[in-house]
Amino acid sequence: MKKFLITLMMALAPMTASAAGGAGVPLDSFEGDLTDQASLQRGMQTFVNRCMGCHEAGYQRFERAAQDLGMPNALVEEYLILDPAAKIGEHMKSAMAKDDAATWFGAPPPDLTLEARLRGSDWLYTYLRSFYKDESRPWGVNNAVFPDVGMPNVLEDLQGKVVNHCTPEELAHSQDEIDPLTGKTMGGCLTVDEAGSQSAEEFDKTVYDLVNFMTYMGEPSRLESERLGTKVLIFLAILFVFAFALKKEYWKDVH
Ligand code: HEC
Repeated sequence: MKKFLITLMMALAPMTASAAGGAGVPLDSFEGDLTDQASLQRGMQTFVNRCMGCHEAGYQRFERAAQDLGMPNALVEEYLILDPAAKIGEHMKSAMAKDDAATWFGAPPPDLTLEARLRGSDWLYTYLRSFYKDESRPWGVNNAVFPDVGMPNVLEDLQGKVVNHCTPEELAHSQDEIDPLTGKTMGGCLTVDEAGSQSAEEFDKTVYDLVNFMTYMGEPSRLESERLGTKVLIFLAILFVFAFALKKEYWKDVH
């Protein structure tokens, strides 16, 4: 009996521990919630409106997202498929030609379907909130976790203009939690100078939803497995009652 319980606990442990982040620079931690459909829907909307001008999610179909996120196809067709030629069954492709993009930006905007898996959701969540003004860069912005990035701050109108008060070394250092010499954290280096249309909390929420959606895209089957996982647990619990009753029945004459 004890053995059975231990085995059961070991089988369940990975579900609660979830995928812990890898080593590297400490980033703002991101705890996604793939069951929050409203958040995923808002994230998809931001992704379509703000990112797909340059990036695509070439392995994600609109229809599958509609299904997984609980949205009627007609609504997705009307509000989320901006390219009039694209159909619901198609992948989330960008209209921008790759060669043009590489010429304009120096580096082509990569496909973002699996970006959350590639870089990690923590990284994405930090990256999108870490742009700051830097006149020496072509787009007038730089990024704390992606130095000399070739992407403009496409969320600047929401976040506002961010200034950096630290030297590049301090900025890089400040991500190691708190710098013991200066006592500064990354939050201390970057502050909003000119307010955007959202407050700091609202902006964090917008990026949260966006990264939540990108996490879903990276692992569409996780939504499915989480739902299935609950059913399996209920099944196991019921099975346990019967197995236990049966065990009692078998052993009752032995003792
Ligand atoms: C104006 C075009 C443009 C838009 C709009 C845009 N990006 Fe980018 N993005 C780029 C370019 C160009 C790069 C490549 C930068 C480089 O490698 O220096 C990039 C790089 C990235 C990277 C890093 C990729 C990697 O791993 O190297 C991420 C993540 C990213 N973009 C996310 C987003 C998200 C999320 C949005 C929407 C909120 C967005 N981008 C909107 C042009 C754009």
